[in-house]
Amino acid sequence: MNIRGGRLQKKMDEEAAKFTSSLKFDHHIFHADIKCNIAHTRMLAQEGIIDKKTAHRIIKVLEELEKEGIEALDLDPSVEDIHMAIEEYVTEKIGEEAGFMHTGKSRNDQVATDLRLALKEKIREIQKELLHFIKVLVKMAEDHKETIIVGYTHLQHAQVTTLAHHLLAYTHALKRDYERLKDTYRRVDVNPLGSGALTTTSFPINRKLTTRLLGFSDYMENSMDAVSSRDFIAETIFDLSMIATNLSRICEEIILWSSYEFHLIELADEFSSTSSIMPQKKNPDVAEIARARTANLYSNLMGVLGILKGLPYTYNRDLQEITPHLWDAMRTCYDMIRIVRRMLSTVKIDKKRGFELAVSNFATATDLADTIVKEKKIPFRTAHQIVGRLINNLISEGLSPLDVDSNLLDKVSMEIIGEKLGLDDDIIKRALDPRENVKMRNVPGGPSPRMVDASIKR
Ligand code: ARG
Repeated sequence: MNIRGGRLQKKMDEEAAKFTSSLKFDHHIFHADIKCNIAHTRMLAQEGIIDKKTAHRIIKVLEELEKEGIEALDLDPSVEDIHMAIEEYVTEKIGEEAGFMHTGKSRNDQVATDLRLALKEKIREIQKELLHFIKVLVKMAEDHKETIIVGYTHLQHAQVTTLAHHLLAYTHALKRDYERLKDTYRRVDVNPLGSGALTTTSFPINRKLTTRLLGFSDYMENSMDAVSSRDFIAETIFDLSMIATNLSRICEEIILWSSYEFHLIELADEFSSTSSIMPQKKNPDVAEIARARTANLYSNLMGVLGILKGLPYTYNRDLQEITPHLWDAMRTCYDMIRIVRRMLSTVKIDKKRGFELAVSNFATATDLADTIVKEKKIPFRTAHQIVGRLINNLISEGLSPLDVDSNLLDKVSMEIIGEKLGLDDDIIKRALDPRENVKMRNVPGGPSPRMVDASIKR
């Protein structure tokens, strides 16, 4: 028996049915909806609300449907949604008796329950991919504890670090992403079933039982809230947007680092494209597409918030339009995590180039200033000025950090403080040596191989 034919005498207009149907994206909740129906029916029987034999017959058909798959359903838009399609399937198999399964239940609490059930699994999948990515990064970091690179601020050479230290920075961002999802999961993991259309039901249903059968940690306390809130979706999509943002930054660095100017990495052919006209080209298209797709997640998030903001309590059909944003965002994010991981794990790293950049453009200058402070007990600000002036001179004379000696340094210190520093040449050399720089940054959070090792273990 259809839900029309009572209050409504006519069939829905074909175009209107197509326009409003959620069947295009309801396949995501097919299994969840069966689970939900089985749990509810089992509970109804257990509480003596419906006949046990009826329940048994309904559940048997639902289990068969689960095995047959969604193809067994009539998915014509006139059926409206997956809930109706499943109910009609059961009705076809056992007749009007199927109608008992909808006792004390509404599509409003049902869809909210299905979404949460399906989402729980998808969140776990994303978390698994994040962990996999983190493991790959840690493995790469193991191999690059001594690989010197320049660290940037303002995209200008700043200080020397190691590739391992840089890769571990990525892992921490992804770890927070993982934890954020874990936290979101707690709020997804609550059961709306039993809320009915909006005010529960007068049937003596057992919400604790369906909560247990469906594997939720608790049931939602307020039925009006339960059927009309989708903040769990907005927050999930934010989490995904943040993941994508972090991945996009990684992609940006892959793009920069693989340029001729940086020349720090080379992408594997499998993750590169070429040009139809310029034969020399090796382009980082995968990273570019990932960087762009990040914006799609933001539009998913904006779409959801935009739909929610004007809705009066409780259920409005607008809520249905939130759902495709969720699945869309999940897919985009999942694909991105995988592809960026695979692309990154196959880059070739040019260690020589990393070192060359680290010695050629004064990225070790801070340590020379620090050394002056340590050796001569001069205030850091003064040392900063001496080294700054020294570098200014070196640049105008076309000299490099490797040319610095005590004479050059003393010339500048005479100008600024009227005294020679008289530092040994090898103390100066050591201060300007990238490897020494890295080793000396042996404080927690720093790039020294010892600290990085400890970080990798953690
Ligand atoms: N397809 C609907 C959705 O996704 C299910 C709930 C329909 N409820 C209703 N009152 N029409 O939200």
